[in-house]
Amino acid sequence: MHILSADQLEPSFLSELLVESLEMQEARASLESRQELSTRHTGKQICTLFYEPSTRTRLSFELAALKLGAGVISTEAAGMFSSVTKGETLEDTIRVLNEYNTAEDNSLGVIVLRHPETGSAKRAASVSEIPIINGGDGKGEHPTQALLDMFTIFMHKGRLDNLNVVIGGDLKRGRTARSVAQILANYPNNRISFVSTSELQIGDDIKAKLDTNNTEHQETTDMYSALETADVVYWTRLQKERSEGEDEDSSRFVLDEKALEVMPAGAIILHPLPRVNEIATIVDTDPRAVYFKQSGYGLPTRMALIDRLLRTS
Ligand code: NCD
Repeated sequence: MHILSADQLEPSFLSELLVESLEMQEARASLESRQELSTRHTGKQICTLFYEPSTRTRLSFELAALKLGAGVISTEAAGMFSSVTKGETLEDTIRVLNEYNTAEDNSLGVIVLRHPETGSAKRAASVSEIPIINGGDGKGEHPTQALLDMFTIFMHKGRLDNLNVVIGGDLKRGRTARSVAQILANYPNNRISFVSTSELQIGDDIKAKLDTNNTEHQETTDMYSALETADVVYWTRLQKERSEGEDEDSSRFVLDEKALEVMPAGAIILHPLPRVNEIATIVDTDPRAVYFKQSGYGLPTRMALIDRLLRTS
């Protein structure tokens, strides 16, 4: 089973993953459980194949695998150091990884792929028996970030429905916002306010999905008004490396002291990180800022996902 889009994380599958993530998180509290986990997938391996920079996604997947007893093979700048520099296609690289398994030994059980081209994970999956996890494909999607984002919301708000969610920043090129919005659309009574410049608005494909699911949504540049009724604030950085000459005036949308003043006391602030300057550092010490905790949740959620895929591979 490949994990390519947040679309696949429909409510019944997502609830199972969230429960398993919570179990992983709780298991980590006991020495006995940690020891059981550390040998659960001995003899299996995962590959992290990253053609774009990453800190959290790659390291949390690798740490998750190691904590489950699985080995890791990795290339962290595949575009620079792998045979891609010699002209190899992504498909050929994936075919080669598949050849490392045989009928008797299919221990390479997961490939986590990050690639600058939208749709690359799907292309990789089309030639792979080994499950591909999309660790971010260009301006497309980042489903496992959305998984940990949902885990964060669930841990802090206790529900995934009936939420006022404000999603802000570079929504045109930010793949995490696209994945998160799709999942929120699967739960009843969520209302989404997208805050961005007119040039960096969320794609029509996502808006169409929200319409199909009758998820209320609006686009606005009035950040402070949107924040007044927020349960969840999901902020993102300007994707400078994906710029095609758009007006990059996202500096208008900085979460600052005034934002904290207008936001309800029970709201939570998420960010997939890296944060550049779109959240003032003064926000970090506010109890509503959960973005560093959120990044920590990358570990139990990715442990749960790897565990599931290695169990079935
Ligand atoms: C995100 C990504 O790569 O899309 N980072 C991450 O995986 N936590 C967000 C970003 O780079 O802005």
